[in-house]
Amino acid sequence: MTSSRHPLLHHHSHHSHHPSSSRNGTKQILLIATFCFALLIVVGTQCYAAMGRTDLLTQNPHSAAFVTKDDYISDSVVEYRKEGSDEGQPQNSPEEPGLDYNGTPLHVVFSTSCSEQMHWESYTFFYHAFKVRQPGTVTRIASGCTDKEAEFALQFHRESIQTMSDRFRLHLTPDFSKQRLTDKSNYKYMNKPFGLRSWLENVLQMNSTDSRRPRGVEDGVVILMDPDMVLLRPLVHDFSKEDVIWVEDNPATTMVKHGFPMAQQDGYLGNQWMYINGTFITGDPTITKPKDKFGPLYWNTGPPYLATVKDMYDISVLWTDYAPRVDHINPGLFAEMQGFIWATYKLNLPHTLIKSIVVSTTKAHHREGWAYIDNLPDSEVCVPSPAMKLPIGLHYCKRYGLGPDFFFSKYRLKKNYLNCEKNLLQPPPKDIHTKYDYFISPPPPHGKPPKELEKKSFTQKQAKREGFMLCGLIHAVNEAATYYKKHNCDDKIANFNKVYTIRNDPGKY
Ligand SMILES: *[C@@H]1O[C@H](CO)[C@@H](O)[C@H](O)[C@H]1NC(C)=O
Ligand SMILES: *[C@@H]1O[C@H](CO)[C@@H](O)[C@H](O)[C@H]1NC(C)=O
Repeated sequence: MTSSRHPLLHHHSHHSHHPSSSRNGTKQILLIATFCFALLIVVGTQCYAAMGRTDLLTQNPHSAAFVTKDDYISDSVVEYRKEGSDEGQPQNSPEEPGLDYNGTPLHVVFSTSCSEQMHWESYTFFYHAFKVRQPGTVTRIASGCTDKEAEFALQFHRESIQTMSDRFRLHLTPDFSKQRLTDKSNYKYMNKPFGLRSWLENVLQMNSTDSRRPRGVEDGVVILMDPDMVLLRPLVHDFSKEDVIWVEDNPATTMVKHGFPMAQQDGYLGNQWMYINGTFITGDPTITKPKDKFGPLYWNTGPPYLATVKDMYDISVLWTDYAPRVDHINPGLFAEMQGFIWATYKLNLPHTLIKSIVVSTTKAHHREGWAYIDNLPDSEVCVPSPAMKLPIGLHYCKRYGLGPDFFFSKYRLKKNYLNCEKNLLQPPPKDIHTKYDYFISPPPPHGKPPKELEKKSFTQKQAKREGFMLCGLIHAVNEAATYYKKHNCDDKIANFNKVYTIRNDPGKY
């Protein structure tokens, strides 16, 4: 009797019933495409410091497999049904096409590695895309998998993800983390531009001029997201009827079209990208920086990024050229994002920016969609009713905590959290944000008691935001894991007990 059909998910489990499935290789954690929005650099540094603690994949790039057979949806035209017959219960609806409400092909993509953490993050991403009935295709781009990891990722995808929707895809690519000008060490974020380009060329055939490319492909829309995002409602390319907070009073467009990309306004990169050598980045001796005031209006972008396939391909070609150049003269964690901005600037593709596609940093002042959360009545913070105005998604690149017991960090959730026999997370009390105005960090994962646990006080406003994120994220991953267990685990073994907190069980497995 096995407790799961997915051997990898059992790799580090002490309770594995599947000893023969043990995989070699310690799991290295490659965190691709993880960006936080923070007003203060110090806040951003905290996020990246957490990333820096992780190891990098060092796999032979030639061992990775390409999945090229990922047919583009162009001929299945079925009207997208926004209202389902079942009340909020997701169901497999293979007939739903990769089109949005207007008939535009939509392609949601996100870039990952093959590490265990990326498996539960990806599963959670796909589950919520399924639950909210995200239109279009949703593709995980997984870079740098070993042969065995690729085999597992394909199996996991086929058995546990594609069974939710056949619009859910996996694209495997080689490791691009060494795509640097001279530095020979890994820069994991390079997988994002190169992975995107690989997908655009191999799946959408964007570098092919002949008839191999289905007609109209370039008129579709790409929505580039991150794996650590949870959709609360569908993200589409037409915001004219959406509740969003625009950066400008009169945005140039409310819909993505050729020449009019859109994005989340970045919270903390600010105008720094303007002050590096644009001639070196672009090779254009005449290029000048824009006026400072235009940075936050048109250029200072962060994920999600939305552009037509044609524009996104043009961006990806320059982005893969510029990101290594930015990295060369301005190495650091923002090089890949600054490369994206320089590509859009060189192409003269100003973005229409939205503050409220996602929320991530509870300390933001005038950034992100926090105004919505600040306005929630106390009774609606933990589990907001559908009538409440909310951002479109959550971006959990930070850590969230409130009171002595509740804490959420993607780095601290058990790597094998999806395993059938693992406990689910304990949900916070619904009034958690009025109960506590402080946070105590959980003990470290290695079991040794720390000298002193960090304690932080919160303003009432921040406590409310922490409560919103904690409740939202704990429910989001619990719901995904519950669905996973119902569909992939033996009834006798599937564990639905909601008792796990990172405080009471701090181990990584
Ligand atoms: C398109 O890109 C793919 C992947 O990068 C490559 O294998 C192929 O040769 C390219 N095709 C053309 C026509 O350039
Ligand atoms: C910027 O880069 C160009 C091209 O590499 C170089 O010629 C120029 O001297 C650089 N400018 C500065 C201020 O470093």
